Amino acid sequence: MRRSIIAGNWKMNKTIPDGVALGGALADDAARFIEKCDVVLCPPFTAIKAVADRVAESGIDVGAQDVHWETSGAFTGEISCEMLLDAGCRWVIIGHSERRAMFGETDDTVNRRMKAAVAAGLKPIVCVGETLAQREDGLANDVVRRQVRGAFAGLSAEDASKAVVAYEPVWAIGTGRASTGEDANAMARVIRDTIAELYSRDLSEAVRIQYGGSVKPGNMAEFARQPDIDGALVGGASLKAADFMGIIAAMIDSKE
Ligand code: PGA
Repeated sequence: MRRSIIAGNWKMNKTIPDGVALGGALADDAARFIEKCDVVLCPPFTAIKAVADRVAESGIDVGAQDVHWETSGAFTGEISCEMLLDAGCRWVIIGHSERRAMFGETDDTVNRRMKAAVAAGLKPIVCVGETLAQREDGLANDVVRRQVRGAFAGLSAEDASKAVVAYEPVWAIGTGRASTGEDANAMARVIRDTIAELYSRDLSEAVRIQYGGSVKPGNMAEFARQPDIDGALVGGASLKAADFMGIIAAMIDSKE
């Protein structure tokens, strides 16, 4: 049985006090869910340490939204794995579609970040997903297969098993237009088959796969009910404690 995992991607939202208040509200309620579901909060870099301190002891984990692959040096504006670990991160989102579309992220740089993260002991949540044009052209499966192969290239089976894959169709992110549970599950199968080709069927069945893209308390159950979906990567609805709690509750209820 794969353990459920809900992650909140706060994107470029929340000051330190606002982030601590949100993390605190979730931490104070964590006893209600933490035995049944992994929960990861991914604040902006500036709030990571304060949020990690606030949720320490609750069982909630903290992650970053990106990381650089070099360990240190002249890389103005970048953050290393060691710095993230130092600030209290255990996870890092890699290859989010906003970074691919707006900040030049490629399958190659995703792969470098994956290797650096697992080598440092950070667990990656690696994002894959097709654009609307790619889906309409019938290319969705090929695109996601290529992204998975690119992300995992050169990773040992042991390292690969630590990663979570987030399937996030680009057209569903922040649009209010989520995928259907059925379509998301079909793509989760494509992802598992690709991982099985790279490693083994056992490993592909052990890796956790999230759906992401306009997840809300009201539609989480549809995804959670799918056999190959183990959780969600949540953007907008992770910014309010009540919404995020509703998503966690729907995840737990549907898997019981
Ligand atoms: P959304 O974002 O939930 O606001 O659609 C998801 C994501 O980008 O991870």
